[in-house]
Order: sequence, then structure tokens, then C-alpha cells
Amino acid sequence: MFRRDDAPLLKLRDISVRFGFVDALKEVSLDVFSGEVVAIVGDNGAGKSTLVKVIGGLQTPSGGDIEYGGQPASIHSVHEANAIGIVSVFQGQEFCNNLDVSSNLFLGHELKDSHGMRDDESMNSKARQILQEFSSAIRVGQPISTLSVGQRQTVALARTLLNDPKLILLDEPTASLSVMQTAEVLNYIKRLRTQGRSVILIGHDLPDVFAVSDRIIVLRHGRINGIHETLETSYEQIIAEIAGVNGSSANLDSITSMNQYDNLMSRRTLIDRTMQFQAASTDESYGP
Ligand SMILES: Nc1ncnc2c1ncn2[C@@H]1O[C@H](COP(=O)(O)OP(=O)(O)OP(=O)(O)O)[C@@H](O)[C@H]1O
Ligand SMILES: [Mg+2]
Repeated sequence: MFRRDDAPLLKLRDISVRFGFVDALKEVSLDVFSGEVVAIVGDNGAGKSTLVKVIGGLQTPSGGDIEYGGQPASIHSVHEANAIGIVSVFQGQEFCNNLDVSSNLFLGHELKDSHGMRDDESMNSKARQILQEFSSAIRVGQPISTLSVGQRQTVALARTLLNDPKLILLDEPTASLSVMQTAEVLNYIKRLRTQGRSVILIGHDLPDVFAVSDRIIVLRHGRINGIHETLETSYEQIIAEIAGVNGSSANLDSITSMNQYDNLMSRRTLIDRTMQFQAASTDESYGP
């Protein structure tokens, strides 16, 4: 899907962010290619959200350079990020509870007809088309207040597609979702990649990260502590780098023998099966 010999879509060079005495990010350099899913993992406070906020225009870096599409880019606001095709979904997206799904999708970007009037018909049909990419259970005329947490998250994700973005930033998109809803979101991420879009995903659950990413970036204390092709690394290695222990075979073996390690394995099996099941049932509902 993506080719490393192409020029990267996004290039970060020595990005730093300081909050008072805290180095939230220290000289972070990273390339992201078109059609690539990059996962960012790390302990609490490692700088994951800060990194994604810098790319999404929510946080101005104290130092470093950003290139986007081969051009120097200064992304000082969400609006500027959107204008070049970068969109983000953060936890706790705002919705208007008294409005329906379609109105919430287009909130602030309502479609107008040739007389400058609000065009509900066009919005509903576009909303229906976008939601079909996700989940059959959500109807566009349904009040947003009747949706489950997972369905709301789906609407938040669907909203990102309105402007045909090239790069989608997701900060823990599956936190507090059920396994079925998580599978839905992960399959959606895979579909974005098939469409040639890039995704940067902050993940808290390693099995989810391994199930969907092409590369895994480990952040620790604001610095990059490892960059790996997902297919060429292991849970042990990533856990060791998150924790900042060296990757000696004794350390990796001790990680493998932890109880939590078995939980990771069973979670991975569960998530893979649910993703297959979910993908198959979506294909059935919508045909080829
Ligand atoms: N607005 C802010 N003001 C001051 N310090 C901040 C601010 N935002 C983040 N920090 C600090 O910067 C560091 C990185 O925070 P960040 O939120 O990026 O971490 P994270 O990896 O996303 O953590 P978590 O897993 O808890 O979401 C932390 O030490 C945090 O306390
Ligand atoms: Mg965070």
C-alpha cells in the first residue's frame, strides 16, 4: 500500500515542546508515508498526545521543523491543519445532544443550497453515504443522545471523512469501547489505509496496535525510544522499550513469563477474530 522509497507525506525534524521545566517532547524526528498506519505507544506522560497535537495544529512546538507534502509547513491551528488535509479525533468530541446524527456530522460546516439555505437533503444523503463506511446500526435521523459511546465515537470518526483528509490523527480511539466496537474502529483504520490515507494512532492496547499498524513508534520521556516495522517486532520488545529496560534476552524472557503477557495473547486472538467477523458482516450488509 505504501512505499518507503516515495517521499514522506509528513516529515518531523527535531520537534520539541516544553511546558515550564517539563520537556513534553525532545527532538522528535519522524517520517510518515502515504497509506501508512503509524502507531504511537508509551507510558502515561510520554508525550504521545503532545506529538499528535503538534501535527494537528493544537500545540505549537518550541523548536523543530515540519514538512508536509514536500513543503515546509507551519500548522498553528486546527483550521490550518484541516486546510492541508490533516484531521484529528480526540477523546470527548463535542456533540449537540438535541440534534440528530446528520446535523452533528455537519456541525459548523452545514451544506447550503443554491439559495444559501441549509440543505438537509444533501446533508442526509452525504451522511448516509459516509456512515455506510462504518456501521449499519446508526441512522442519520437518530438523535445523537440515543447513541452508545461506541456509536458516538463512530460518528466522530465519520466526521473526519467529510473533507477527504490525507492524514487522520486518532488519540486512543478505542478507549472505553467494547471488543466489537473496537474491531469496527480497527477495520475502519484499515479501510482508510486502503484508500491511500495515512493514520497516526495513539494506542493504549498493544494487541490492537499490532493488529492494525504498519509501524510502531515508542515514546519515552518525550523522546523516541524505538521505531519498528510491526511485522518485525514483538510484544516483549515494545514493552521493554516502553518501560525503558534494555532488550536483553533475560529481560525479554521475564516479560514473556508475566501473567499479563498471556492476557495480551488472548486479547489479540479475540480482536483478530472479531475484526474478521465484523468485516465479513459489513461486507454482507453492503455487498461488494
Ligand atoms: N498543557 C500542558 N501544560 C503543562 N504540561 C503539560 C501540558 N500538556 C502536557 N503536559 C505534560 O507533558 C508531558 C507529556 O504529556 P502528554 O499528554 O503528551 O502525554 P501522553 O503520552 O499523551 O500521556 P497519557 O498516556 O497519560 O495520555 C506530561 O508530563 C504532561 O504532564
Ligand atoms: Mg495522551
